Amino acid sequence: MKKIAYINQKIKNFNSKIYVPGDKSLSIRWILMACQAVGTSVAYNLLKSEDVFSALNAIKKLGINFKINNKNCKIYGKGLNGFRFKNNTIINAGNSGTLARLIFGLLVKSKNQVILKGDKSLSKRDFSRVIKPMRMFGQNINSKNQKLPIKIKGTNYPRPIIYNETKGSAQIKSCILLAAMKTPGKTKINSIPSRDHTEKLFKYLKLPIKVYRKKKIDLISYNGVKNYKGFNYIIPGDISSSSFFIVLTLLSKNSKIIIRNVNVNKSRTGIIDILKIMKAKIVLKNKKNYNGEYIADIVVKSSNNLKSINCSSNMNSRSIDEFLLIFLVCAVANGVSKFNKIGELRNKETDRLKFANTFLNNIGIKTKITKDSFKIYGNPNLKLNKTYKIKNFDKDHRACMLSFIAALTLGGNWIINDIDSINTSFPSFISLLKKLGAKIN
Ligand code: S3P
Repeated sequence: MKKIAYINQKIKNFNSKIYVPGDKSLSIRWILMACQAVGTSVAYNLLKSEDVFSALNAIKKLGINFKINNKNCKIYGKGLNGFRFKNNTIINAGNSGTLARLIFGLLVKSKNQVILKGDKSLSKRDFSRVIKPMRMFGQNINSKNQKLPIKIKGTNYPRPIIYNETKGSAQIKSCILLAAMKTPGKTKINSIPSRDHTEKLFKYLKLPIKVYRKKKIDLISYNGVKNYKGFNYIIPGDISSSSFFIVLTLLSKNSKIIIRNVNVNKSRTGIIDILKIMKAKIVLKNKKNYNGEYIADIVVKSSNNLKSINCSSNMNSRSIDEFLLIFLVCAVANGVSKFNKIGELRNKETDRLKFANTFLNNIGIKTKITKDSFKIYGNPNLKLNKTYKIKNFDKDHRACMLSFIAALTLGGNWIINDIDSINTSFPSFISLLKKLGAKIN
């Protein structure tokens, strides 16, 4: 069912403390690691969203049981060789690129074939990025145009690989690491830095991973094969979900927010660094280590006089899911903002570069776009009073949530379609906005 939201007034000033739900990347990784542990694993604060349920349903199809309730989620792992399923088992990854890419790694040795499917948006996305390294391991993969649906069957004798990961993609890197876990010998990845949750989780489990950075490249090696025991894990708040509230606060008048217990892993906090360069008032407090990941409270205050940014491409992978929000801030900043080498944004749930360009032009902001660069001519006096319709965004959850933040901070009358897309990552988004005082019909 298509659901529509109507917003026709800005949010009034607020001063609040909130929690956002558990991190999506960590929730999916916990599931994919716990399902291969020996014995029971328990996670607290697991994100309850469609992408995460797709991951739980996927491991169920592989013969692994789980129980989930309000307090926690338990997975009953059977070790690295514990999957049992029939030939041609269908796994539907729904909208989740992370699940669909990482699951190739889990299946490196599977005796039976899996048919991997996804929703309309996922079926448009590229899988050559994982097909290439997985074929090097010896996995048998059958696909039309490197897109879903894809047939995947493992090999009895996976070979360790050496792979240069040049896209800055944590999904590719993690897929290879999951395959390396089941592959005897040393797998090596020379990777442009990207979110490093998988590496941190391996270290937390004392698995034989080595990582060091040389000349801006992460040299990662894993020596397989080693089983590990079931483990408990507390999932911190998601920085990507927090970012909607960071920008909401920055662009609202006389407001302040404290977002508690958010994962502030360096490989994810590009948005904070970028916004601070733009003179946003953001402070991290109570930083502490949590299962090998850092968490903190993020304190944000309304900020006027935001400056434009000439964004270094080193920031790209550290803020890959937050660019739509960053572009919105640039739209009301003083000066011209520039972004380079951001073509990967075209490969997300929708072509986010194209979406951002149309979106900003529709609200009267001048832009210049190329295949992989973007310029935004900011207007600090931007005031909206027309009607804006948001539709045809391939049900991209982040495009949808961005529209709410624009509507609540810039004014105008907004009609936002397909709001059920938000359920992929942040089902409580609208109720949290309403708690802060947002009027949404
Ligand atoms: C993710 C990695 C990123 C990100 C996605 C989640 C992950 O994708 O966009 O939302 O959990 O590994 P890429 O690794 O393809 O950049």
